[in-house]
Amino acid sequence: MGGFAVVGLQWGDEGKGKITDYFAEKADCVVRYQGGNNAGHTIVVGGRKYKFHLIPSGVLHRKKVVIGNGVVVDPSVLIDEMEMLRDAGIEPDLMVSERANVIMPYHRILDGAEESLLGNKKVGTTKRGIGPCYADKIARYGIRMGDIVDEKSLREKMERIMPIKEKIFQMYGLENPDIKKIVEEYLEYGRALKKYVDDTIYYLNSIIDEKTVLFEGAQGFLLDIDYGTYPYVTSSNPVAGGICTGAGISPKKLEKITGVAKAYTTRVGMGPMPTEDDGKAGNHMAERGHEFGTTTGRRRRCGWLDLVALKYACMVNGVDSIAITKLDVLDGLEEVKVCVAYGYEGRTLNKFPSSIRVLEKCKPIYETMDGWDSSAGIKSYEHLPSNAKKYIDYISENLGVRVEIISTGPSREQTIMLD
Ligand code: GDP
Ligand code: IMO
Ligand code: MG
Repeated sequence: MGGFAVVGLQWGDEGKGKITDYFAEKADCVVRYQGGNNAGHTIVVGGRKYKFHLIPSGVLHRKKVVIGNGVVVDPSVLIDEMEMLRDAGIEPDLMVSERANVIMPYHRILDGAEESLLGNKKVGTTKRGIGPCYADKIARYGIRMGDIVDEKSLREKMERIMPIKEKIFQMYGLENPDIKKIVEEYLEYGRALKKYVDDTIYYLNSIIDEKTVLFEGAQGFLLDIDYGTYPYVTSSNPVAGGICTGAGISPKKLEKITGVAKAYTTRVGMGPMPTEDDGKAGNHMAERGHEFGTTTGRRRRCGWLDLVALKYACMVNGVDSIAITKLDVLDGLEEVKVCVAYGYEGRTLNKFPSSIRVLEKCKPIYETMDGWDSSAGIKSYEHLPSNAKKYIDYISENLGVRVEIISTGPSREQTIMLD
């Protein structure tokens, strides 16, 4: 009983959705605490693929699902996702924080406008309005879920912030947002979502001592606004510490933190990635791993596992265990490499640098190991090829962290649980 966390340790798309779904069977409630519909979590059950952007992955086990105060909610996306679930015969038992900030049409427009102004220096965002929405939250211009279910409050807040938005739109040479239309549209969303909007903070604190509450991270540690490859990051705190601020939970309530890492590395969008491989190995990973974004369909950049970055992620997240996913994607490679340090201007770095100017110049120092033929679909550690076992053991020893789960395919059953 208490809080259990699943967090991404790399640049996102580690397979958090699959691992959360796996743990959700034994949980009572699953909670998202940050990010928005920039996330894309794919879960494969019974041959059917489900893609979630906002609703926590526990919903397929018919568990209570909560969208916490730290999430930014695009209500139209949430409504569509609820519809998708209803079509699949699932009625979500959902609660959304009244404090969660709302993504407005002008956030999406500004996300696009800022990116085009940055040109080839752009972040490569998902253009879902995430950055501008969090920026408004911090600047105190945000609209919250509690406002869209309260007409007076929404009208008052929109009137207050619109002069600022109009100035910014003029600066960009954009047509002013149509406040009346926006208010009507969002009041409609509010009516559709009203019964789900509640005080999630009191709710979660009322159950956390008796029930198992699972927190599902979105994005990954290296995209964290504080710890990632700034400014090529997202605008929230995927780090485990983000659970406390994004769900209203004391750090004392977290019983276990599981970090999820792919057996290799991927990244979508711009920014440095020391182990990126444009050659044969990278292509093997992209093709075998179907490395195309769940949200934007973009091809993910691929490369070898980076233990310098992973160690940093394990340290700051305080992980108790790790889940290694997509081991099967490395099947068929003659040799596999892991980056154990960086070479930088004649020196060896063992720490992940804070400056991307330094990281961009870091050359990975690799340890090379023998590959294996087939791990796909294997359900027990004993049956893994011996070189795959050596690979897993090497990672665990290097990180000083226990491997709890090994994933050998996208389906729920293609999972190895270690004691
Ligand atoms: P998330 O954002 O961390 O939840 O990850 P995504 O769902 O965006 O990306 C992970 C992708 O890999 C999804 O398409 C999953 O179905 C798939 N996947 C997860 N685990 C495995 C695995 O062990 N092997 C393979 N081949 N695919 C996996
Ligand atoms: P999940 O939860 C991978 C990346 C974008 C971009 C940067 C900023 O599926 O792991 P944003 O739209 O957030 O302002 O974009 O972050 N990004 C992700 N990359 N997986 C995600 O989520 C991501 N969410 C955002 O590609 O580089
Ligand atoms: Mg994803």
